[in-house]
Amino acid sequence: MTDGFIINGGNKLKGEVRISGAKNAALPILAATLIAEGEYILSNVPDLKDIKTMIKLLKEMGLEIDKIKEDTYKIINKGIKNIEAPYDLVKTMRASFLVMGPLLANVKKAKVSLPGGCAIGARPVDYHLKGFEKLGATINLEHGYIEANVDELKAGEIYLDFPSVGATENIIMAAVKAKGISILENAAKEPEIEDLCEFLNEMGAKIKGIGSSKLIIEGVEKLTPGKHKIIPDRIEAGTFIIASLLTGCELEIKDLELNHIDSFRMKLEEMGVQFKGNNNSLKVKANLKELKSVDITTLPYPGYPTDLQAQMMVLLALVEGKSEIKETIFENRFMQAQELNRMGAKVKIDDGMATIEGVNKFTGTRVMASDLRAGASLVLAALVAEGETKINRVYHIDRGYDKIEEKLKNVGAKINRVKFEVV
Ligand code: UD1
Repeated sequence: MTDGFIINGGNKLKGEVRISGAKNAALPILAATLIAEGEYILSNVPDLKDIKTMIKLLKEMGLEIDKIKEDTYKIINKGIKNIEAPYDLVKTMRASFLVMGPLLANVKKAKVSLPGGCAIGARPVDYHLKGFEKLGATINLEHGYIEANVDELKAGEIYLDFPSVGATENIIMAAVKAKGISILENAAKEPEIEDLCEFLNEMGAKIKGIGSSKLIIEGVEKLTPGKHKIIPDRIEAGTFIIASLLTGCELEIKDLELNHIDSFRMKLEEMGVQFKGNNNSLKVKANLKELKSVDITTLPYPGYPTDLQAQMMVLLALVEGKSEIKETIFENRFMQAQELNRMGAKVKIDDGMATIEGVNKFTGTRVMASDLRAGASLVLAALVAEGETKINRVYHIDRGYDKIEEKLKNVGAKINRVKFEVV
């Protein structure tokens, strides 16, 4: 049996939705607590499957972790007892690989299972490993595990062939303790990386160039733990903005950072959407029937985020005219398209490009979530579809959306969690 959602579409959503902390900031920041001994307090941590997986991994490595409030954890690092991230955890969550940099920084060795292929493409870790080697580590692949060892981390100059989010974070977390000044060129600039850098600097790291593609990291001998509040989840915010547009624009979206999704906001404005409110609390205004089609290319930040591509496809599928989405970050990231087509959308996929012909309506049916963001797009489509939609395999959605059915129910959606036979 697996969890599923049954959603009855057509309800206007009304009321307030509070955006939770960012999954993709909380994961590397949790991993960073492996670096230094002492006590950490992390707040605005979202309640998600991926966070639970990271906490399980950190506990296995010897950290003591207690939830002290709804969204706040106390983490005590009294030393690392185990340097291995096992296959079972890494295969369910690739971000487990983010423990490698912190372990090298603290205990100078790590053993992490090589992530397998994943539903949205190959997703290798070669940039991470190249970075660790530049910092003096020796890397070996044995029995499916990457073993990294170093006598002393030394500063290095690292150029990333592509601004990988995970590689940037992993390399930063090792470089903060490497002797000398490291330079990370063509680094990723996502807000979640800024949040990690701010956290590390609060601990005593010396990272300059935060928010730019050139990070200058002066290694320090000691870091001191502290408190940190995780930034809001920009992808969850974007998902609820689209939910509001699809169902009649009556949601008040709170506790977001709109300036972290400027590219998304500007694309919606190009379509004719108006934003009312401010950076942290807003409503959107538009008439779905009057919105214009647009073309979108996913890119590294500050370009349009790949994690809001599937959700935008749902909106474009209901907007008159032809839109195109080009996906440049991951291969196989249009898996929502065939499910949306079963609900009445007209999407054609060809070589990393989706061509979308607007239709008047969706109709509910049985669909299956294939990955996190594709799953979110099916929830959005179901909210506006005629009749009942059954979404199977919602464990993908639970990885990244904090209490999604509770939040949607609170604003008037008809959504229920049920058990389905595995298909
Ligand atoms: C992170 C996010 C994910 C988001 C993605 C892109 C987290 C936990 N996850 O994933 O939600 O969709 O950024 O914004 O923050 N690549 C390599 N070699 C490497 C590393 C990456 O070739 O060593 C390639 C990948 O295959 C992919 C591209 O680079 O095609 C981008 O990947 P990356 O930015 O690393 O994504 P993640 O950190 O896995």
